[in-house]
Amino acid sequence: MDDFMPTVSEQQLLGMVNDFVNTASNQHSALEGVIGLLASNYKHFTWTGIYILKNGELKLGPYRGDPSPHETISLDKGICGAAVRDNKTIVVPDVNTDSRYLACSSSTKSEIVVPIFKGEKIVGEIDIDSDDPDAFKKRDQKILEMVAEKIGQVF
Ligand code: SME
Repeated sequence: MDDFMPTVSEQQLLGMVNDFVNTASNQHSALEGVIGLLASNYKHFTWTGIYILKNGELKLGPYRGDPSPHETISLDKGICGAAVRDNKTIVVPDVNTDSRYLACSSSTKSEIVVPIFKGEKIVGEIDIDSDDPDAFKKRDQKILEMVAEKIGQVF
């Protein structure tokens, strides 16, 4: 997918992300806006949230979906911790076969965690769960990495 080109609707979404990032009065409202946008535009995103890296731990930020039992995740735990340790996006097509997985809902089948970078440093993550198995394709990964790159600006 090196020749990846966003579709018109993906470009519109990225434009709206850009607007939230450029016009929000603070970090929380920018992240809140972006999460709402992602959750309402993608049917296969069952739980959509942000974790913010603070004092060596991941703290739950804005999200859409059922409340998560994991408001704080240490970096040695979960897919979320693994994405920070590996310094890259992790896609888990079947959460039930991944021993790192921390369950949020028993209906979740697959997950993607996309780091948010500020320069070279990870400052947070976009975490998305789906009730569909193997829900996250290269296309989702590319768009979410572009979204993450934009929201790195509010950190
Ligand atoms: N599944 C994540 C934990 C967060 S919940 O999905 C909201 C993990 O394994 O790190």
